[in-house]
Amino acid sequence: MSATIQAQEFHRTEQAAILPEQQYAGSVNPQWARLLKLLGMNVRYERCLGAELFTSDGRRILDFLSGYCVHNLGHNHPHIIEAVKDELDRRGPAMLQSHIPERAGELAARLCSLADGQVTKAFFCSSGSEAIEASIKFARAHTRRAGLLYAEGAFHGLTCGALSLMGDPFWKKGFGSLLNDTQQIPFNDLGELERHLRTKKFAALFLEPIQGEGGIRLPSNDYLAGAARLCKQFGTLLVLDEVQTGFFRTGPFLAAHHYSVAGDMVVLAKALSGGLVPSGALLMTDQIYDSVYGSLKRSLIHTSTFSENGLAMRVGLAVLDALESQDASGRSNDRGNYLRERLRDQLSGFEMIEEIRGQGLFTGIVFRPPRTLSLRLGYEAFAKIHPAMFGQVLVMRLFRDHGVLAQICGNNFQVLKLVPPLIITRHQIDEAVGAIRQVIQLAHSPSVFWSEALGLARRAVNV
Ligand SMILES: Cc1ncc(COP(=O)(O)O)c(C=O)c1O
Repeated sequence: MSATIQAQEFHRTEQAAILPEQQYAGSVNPQWARLLKLLGMNVRYERCLGAELFTSDGRRILDFLSGYCVHNLGHNHPHIIEAVKDELDRRGPAMLQSHIPERAGELAARLCSLADGQVTKAFFCSSGSEAIEASIKFARAHTRRAGLLYAEGAFHGLTCGALSLMGDPFWKKGFGSLLNDTQQIPFNDLGELERHLRTKKFAALFLEPIQGEGGIRLPSNDYLAGAARLCKQFGTLLVLDEVQTGFFRTGPFLAAHHYSVAGDMVVLAKALSGGLVPSGALLMTDQIYDSVYGSLKRSLIHTSTFSENGLAMRVGLAVLDALESQDASGRSNDRGNYLRERLRDQLSGFEMIEEIRGQGLFTGIVFRPPRTLSLRLGYEAFAKIHPAMFGQVLVMRLFRDHGVLAQICGNNFQVLKLVPPLIITRHQIDEAVGAIRQVIQLAHSPSVFWSEALGLARRAVNV
């Protein structure tokens, strides 16, 4: 055996002895590894089925996060696994970049039909951010304007274009100058919107019909229709970001359907993947398509290597089949109403609960500062250390003490987001609500909850 081969063998044996967690911390993202450890959430998952996650140390976790609305069908849905296996077994063309992918047309047509508005064409990509990037280019190409409007609290992704439309400065800090000509406006304020649209500088208005990371914020009944009307009047395109809210998450296929509003472009991702094969889609009108791809020379003017890849197209179709055959819309409405009813019933007496809100299985518990002096002192002290501290302790306790995985909203730490897979059962909802009640009860009994929070704060220095 040569010295080089011996050295390689030694390196391989050494690597095998390192735990995956250590290797991850060493070579991927040590700070994320630290944070998970701090929160007691650094467990190893062995199997994930439906709404349940099973860990190597024998715990069973109920998933009320769904990978931020990726797992609408639940984890490892058999129909999606079958589609992936079948697609691989047939050894068909993949990523040739020189042919017409068989299923892309069918998937595009079905998505546009479900979106049920003016959109007729799809651009496929691999993530929500990538679809947002495309929508920025297409809006500018179509309108020949540069301006981009977005709402306070918005989250459209973290690539440079999408980040330029971020409704919280935290995410932008330190990354230098982003896109010019962007303007933030308040969510739910038609007057402010009109004032900006009147300048006719804006190519597009980007809106999540129901804000996700902004705090499960529902628009007032007339906001989206009013925004669509004003956009039309002043020649600005309406881009609906349904990355979290699409695929029946809020009841209908799109959250915009609650308000009978159609976008000029619709952004989809997350659940389109079936939780297994990354995928995104930007739906648009024929007119927008023509402005971008209007000649043979421009047929590939905007594309991406993994766009329309066979596996993602196959999975996208399987996702639609499974969601439709399982009456995802009916389930989302039924279970969502049940969840909010149970939460209101169990939590309304607690002084830190401001509101339970949402649509379908897109629900937020909104917290407010306590009035009672003994609670308020602790609450305010922790808010000063870090505004997310209170919410993170709730999340940590839910996970550690009760086996429920949930998260607070990324741009609104006062809201605990509950977005389980759409296949969640009433029994599982009862279980999660019981756990949430116990943790919130603890948060209203000063000593235990707040001393834990203090410990976390101490350990979190420099996190
Ligand atoms: C509403 C919304 N839009 C866009 C994105 C970006 O999607 P991705 O993470 O796939 O790039 C996200 C991600 O969480 C999102 O919540």
